Amino acid sequence: MADEDPTPETSRPLAAAETGEAAAGAATPEPAVAAAAGAAPAAGVSPAARPAAAAAARTAPVGAGAHGPARPAPAPRPPAAPIPDLAGKTTSVASPGGAAAKATVAATAAAKAAGGRAADDTSPLLNRRAWMGLAWGAFSAASAAALAATGRFMFPNVLNEPPQQFKAGFPSEYGVGVDERWKERYGVWLVRTAEDIDNQASGFYALSTTCTHLGCTPNNLSAEAKFKCPCHGSGFRITGVNFEGPAPRPLERFRIVLADDGQILVDKSRKFQRELGQWTDPEAFLKA
Ligand code: FES
Repeated sequence: MADEDPTPETSRPLAAAETGEAAAGAATPEPAVAAAAGAAPAAGVSPAARPAAAAAARTAPVGAGAHGPARPAPAPRPPAAPIPDLAGKTTSVASPGGAAAKATVAATAAAKAAGGRAADDTSPLLNRRAWMGLAWGAFSAASAAALAATGRFMFPNVLNEPPQQFKAGFPSEYGVGVDERWKERYGVWLVRTAEDIDNQASGFYALSTTCTHLGCTPNNLSAEAKFKCPCHGSGFRITGVNFEGPAPRPLERFRIVLADDGQILVDKSRKFQRELGQWTDPEAFLKA
């Protein structure tokens, strides 16, 4: 019959696909794929031919369309090696902005090479520099302190003690009784007595102002004719003999002689103790 389509029914979809590819595939490949996959049913593909057409559409290379040469797949890029940054950064050229990062790094390195610092340079290197500065500062301070301590050690404390000997003036300058003019400076009471019980004579003796209990300085109570220690209450006669309180022995006497010029010379470097029978020593009592 002249009205019948001589084309086999199974070949129509392909012809329709080819027609659609020719019309739309030249512009963009993706619509061509859609046409290849979707145009066939619209063109009346037989159910038996639909799976084959769908499979052809799935396996067709992207951009190739249903027909025409397949576009070669891009070669995989090799992994980018990290580029060490002079500013302490690491970056990679694999990122889309790799070229820009490289340009920034190059600009930073150039700025540093020129002796300057990038305005936005907040790399950890700055922190390291700050810490190094602090460390050096602490080290310098410690060294200075150690040096100062060493210097101080080279100049130890000096105890300025009064001289052990001193001239106390002429005997005529003293009346009978206790004279306290040398107490503060030398720790000595100079006593003039009309008669000393140990020496059976009148004269002078130099009495220590140090309590024989624990070393306090007794007070001279002239109205009571005694020395009274304020620490624990020990009492001493004018002669220096202890009579009350915890003091275990009498006060000590110092060497006392007449100097060549006739003055009284007191020598604290030599002491005399009554409990040892030393108060009768010729230098423990100055007869006058
Ligand atoms: S120190 Fe003088 S009584 Fe104790």
